[in-house]
Amino acid sequence: MAMAGSAIGLGNIWRFPYIVGENGGAAFILVYVFCCLFLSVPIFLAESVIGRRSGANCRGAMEKLAPGSGWKWFGYLSVFTPMLILSYYSVIGGWSLNYLWKGMTLSFVRSGTEAVGELFGGFISSTWAPLLFHTLFLLMTLLVILGGVRSGIEKFSKLCIPLLFVLIVAIAIYSVSLPGAKTGINYLIRPDFSKLTARSCIDALGQSFYSLSLGMGIIITYSSYISKKENLFAAGLGTAVSDLMFAILAGFAIMPAVFAAGIAPGAGPGLIFETLPFIFAKMGVTMPWLSSIVAILFFLTVLFAALTSSVSLMEVGVAYLVEEKKMKRPLAALTVFAATWAVGAVCSLSFGPLSGVKIFGNDIFSAVDLFCSNVLLTVGGFLCVVFVGWKMKKEDVRDEFTNGGTKRLNGKWFPFVYFLTRYAAPIAVGIIFIANFL
Ligand code: PFF
Repeated sequence: MAMAGSAIGLGNIWRFPYIVGENGGAAFILVYVFCCLFLSVPIFLAESVIGRRSGANCRGAMEKLAPGSGWKWFGYLSVFTPMLILSYYSVIGGWSLNYLWKGMTLSFVRSGTEAVGELFGGFISSTWAPLLFHTLFLLMTLLVILGGVRSGIEKFSKLCIPLLFVLIVAIAIYSVSLPGAKTGINYLIRPDFSKLTARSCIDALGQSFYSLSLGMGIIITYSSYISKKENLFAAGLGTAVSDLMFAILAGFAIMPAVFAAGIAPGAGPGLIFETLPFIFAKMGVTMPWLSSIVAILFFLTVLFAALTSSVSLMEVGVAYLVEEKKMKRPLAALTVFAATWAVGAVCSLSFGPLSGVKIFGNDIFSAVDLFCSNVLLTVGGFLCVVFVGWKMKKEDVRDEFTNGGTKRLNGKWFPFVYFLTRYAAPIAVGIIFIANFL
């Protein structure tokens, strides 16, 4: 559940719909499913093998499995990446918290359809409000982390994940029943392969990395807590399938509403924050209460999904500081909190007072996002499969994957999964990495 909680996040609700929108719909989803099952699942399994075999955080895992080697840098990278991601992830987490607040205070209904579009731009470009909500969101994350692995992360995920599925199904039912939703449904189920480009395939793989929390040590860290009896293959497939199902449900919750509102599906990162409030405002003219309830449910879903993921991002750094630097858990958590808060604050301000600051032509937020998703995640994922496919002994990998040979079905799948890990995944990820710079 915690792994599913890490996977299901803003990547599914906020990023997936707009990436699908930018890449033409159903055909892209098919490529995405393929990438997820045949490339991302093997990487997920490689990370779980490293985590459970070593029983340690990312840096410690490299010391145990490849002592004294240069692989320690892979360990450091896997600790650093999630902290950097958390810093800007919590800015968007803060936006969802603010939108939940807006839903509760009937802001969408009161703004009306004409003014609701300005809410988003006005909010993110201001100084204090986004900072405040970024801080609140990170504090919520900290609270769960302080609860510990069992009573914090595990309990929270067990409660949230089933709730998330119920909420997203309810919103999808509402969305597909809107007048004008049919075009949106067709967009998601009728593939038009003429819209597919090489870039779409790169985006599909990148998105499946992002969505499954790969290439950044999260799965290594969580797997280090998994018991030796647990079936890694089942856990990996279970996580991938629930993540996929959730992304597709989120597509059905958002795309029909986007088309019903007459908004372009390729509107980019602001998609859910700009289009859904428009629907809520429109509905609010005749049914203000129902509109507010749906708005609250929707942003509550976004918030919980974001929290179960941000917790996993924070845990990587905390596990490192506790196990390697022998810090007490609360101090470790506060240290990660302070560092990510500071970087996140700069990212948040880059939509307002710091909007003039550019890094290679991008504002600070986009530069950090691009650097993380296109460079750090791909390098991390690549090194991970190379480590398991080429550095670890095949017998050790098989032993971990099959629980010492006791899981016979896993044994049957092993040659295929190992082939994907050793050849297909590193080649595909390598191509994606190079293509990013073309
Ligand atoms: N997998 C989660 C999501 O899709 O939101 C969390 C996450 C992990 C987001 C890693 C971003 C990221 F780079």
